[in-house]
Amino acid sequence: MPKIIFLCNNVFMMKLDDIKTTNAFDYKYLLKRIYPYIKPVMFRIIIAFLLAIPLGLLDGATAFVLKPYIDVVVNGDTLVYFNYTLTRDVLSVIIPPGIVVFATTQGVLRYLNTYLSDWVSLNIANNVKIDLFKKLVNLDSKFFDDNSSGLVISRFLSDPDIASKQLINSIKTLITSFVSALGLVFVLIYNSWELAVVGVVVLVCAFLPMTFLRKKIKEVSNKTTVVGGNIATSFNETYKGNKVVTGYNLQQNEFEKVRKLIRETFDLQISLTKRTGWLSPIMYIIASLGIAFVMLVGNHLIETSRLTTGSFASFITSLLLLYKPVKTLGQDLTNIQGIFVAINRVFELFDFKSRIKDNGKKELDFIPSDIEFRDVCFSYDENKEILHNISFNVKKGETIALVGSSGCGKSSLVNLLPRFYDITKGQILFDGVDIRDFTLKSLRNSISQVFQDNFLFNGTIRENILIGNNSATNEEINTVIEASCLSDFVFNQEQGLDSLITEGGSSLSGGQRQRIAIARAMIKNAPVVVLDEATSALDSKSEKVVQKALDNLTKDKTVFVIAHRLSTIFNADKIFVIDNGRIIESGTHEELIKLEDGKYRNLYNLQFKNQEKVLDNIN
Ligand SMILES: Nc1ncnc2c1ncn2[C@@H]1O[C@H](COP(=O)(O)OP(=O)(O)OP(=O)(O)O)[C@@H](O)[C@H]1O
Ligand SMILES: [Mg+2]
Repeated sequence: MPKIIFLCNNVFMMKLDDIKTTNAFDYKYLLKRIYPYIKPVMFRIIIAFLLAIPLGLLDGATAFVLKPYIDVVVNGDTLVYFNYTLTRDVLSVIIPPGIVVFATTQGVLRYLNTYLSDWVSLNIANNVKIDLFKKLVNLDSKFFDDNSSGLVISRFLSDPDIASKQLINSIKTLITSFVSALGLVFVLIYNSWELAVVGVVVLVCAFLPMTFLRKKIKEVSNKTTVVGGNIATSFNETYKGNKVVTGYNLQQNEFEKVRKLIRETFDLQISLTKRTGWLSPIMYIIASLGIAFVMLVGNHLIETSRLTTGSFASFITSLLLLYKPVKTLGQDLTNIQGIFVAINRVFELFDFKSRIKDNGKKELDFIPSDIEFRDVCFSYDENKEILHNISFNVKKGETIALVGSSGCGKSSLVNLLPRFYDITKGQILFDGVDIRDFTLKSLRNSISQVFQDNFLFNGTIRENILIGNNSATNEEINTVIEASCLSDFVFNQEQGLDSLITEGGSSLSGGQRQRIAIARAMIKNAPVVVLDEATSALDSKSEKVVQKALDNLTKDKTVFVIAHRLSTIFNADKIFVIDNGRIIESGTHEELIKLEDGKYRNLYNLQFKNQEKVLDNIN
């Protein structure tokens, strides 16, 4: 089993950078992991591999026919094969076109082989990527908090390709090279076993140094992936944070950061080349020594009439031809190391366990009349508890407002409702049933959210709204557009609802983004609404528009709102004041404002009071 899950006080801590590739050498385990993807295309793989056998064997054919060609056609000897006497007249007609036939057959086989192996490897890579992405989208928020996008993207985009495409290709060329080498060795032995022994020993020596490099290749391959991931993250940052980068004149910093990383990749790869680059020349030198030696011995054998010139020519040709498959074999064996590292990385990602378990059996198909937080404690990691013993009740249709200074835990608290994170102690109950007893899908279907910062997807306005409810009718969309005060905005767009929004909605104003998010939440029509209000103060006109949209969204719903605006606070049935992860005051605005030295009163004076003017304007 992979040793990648560290358990600390029942909290899974997993970072991709932390993971050691302990299994990269456990080929049996890794092949077992990738086998389910190979199994459905096994038949085609076997055919591809079977095709590799004649493909390899045909390499020896040309060298093989050189002997009869030179001995019979050039030197005029006679050869007897299985009672057939081969004369110059016969062979001079058969051999030249025969070579073309061999080459054509090899060409056709090569095409079929490439087609089949590409088909299966792409198929495997696709299925791995599809399953990997399914795994990824279902991972919990903590995974995305902990792991940088670049690192995950590089694992997702390149590792499955290496894992499948190169695996199949390497095995394919391994077979072709092996069979080709075998065929050529046969031709060597056929021509002269004494010389064959010399040739083969030399080639084996030439290819031995390959085996010493496995560890280095694994290490560099891993480091390169981490650095590559960091480069991708920097790209992401430059893209998403381009205004910060420009505004703070950080171009040089970003440039230096990426330059350093690119330089690091260069150093890593050059260090690998330094260690592996000498292999090929060394092999070549050893092989040439072998050939020189063979020539000397061959000369002697010809002089003593133990070898014909045809056999010698055929032998030398086979030996020269043998260099390529043996070299490929060596390269493949080293490549395979990198491939297993990639397979290991893919399955490490597969082995991430979502901390949010969907074990509940009950369907949350009712409108809860009572939502209770009972002694809820929560921490993102074991070192620091963020929420301490939170207890309160909310009745159906009530609006509760959470107020408190920045970082006190308001967003953390509401994120527990749809189980983005699970609580560490206590219970959250919907009509007395722990939310962990509901299916995740039905729980999340019952809650609409508008976040502090709303993400919009690449697509049209309509698509972005329909995320809330895919089966909504045009009439419902129009109602929602109206209720979320988007009519004017949509009407002014050239394509109306079908106007394109670029990823993240960066071309829209904050208020427009927020109202699209409100429309999306509204069309979902869930009984519980969670609002994390944007902190940025809106001007009075926008405030009025957004307030109206929110009023429509929250009508007849149970609402949890993180309030940054006075109007929200006045509308709340109950206000909870949070300080350092604890509820320290609760009540209505009138009750709380009366508390001498109360936190709320303090906050109100600091944060909300100056909004009264805006509110007056609205009214
Ligand atoms: N994903 C996270 N991983 C680890 N710690 C986090 C994470 N999100 C928030 N925190 C920490 O939890 C604490 C509470 O953060 P939270 O976002 O709940 O504050 P908040 O009350 O919503 O603040 P604000 O009003 O600024 O939005 C902070 O100390 C913050 O650093
Ligand atoms: Mg917050």
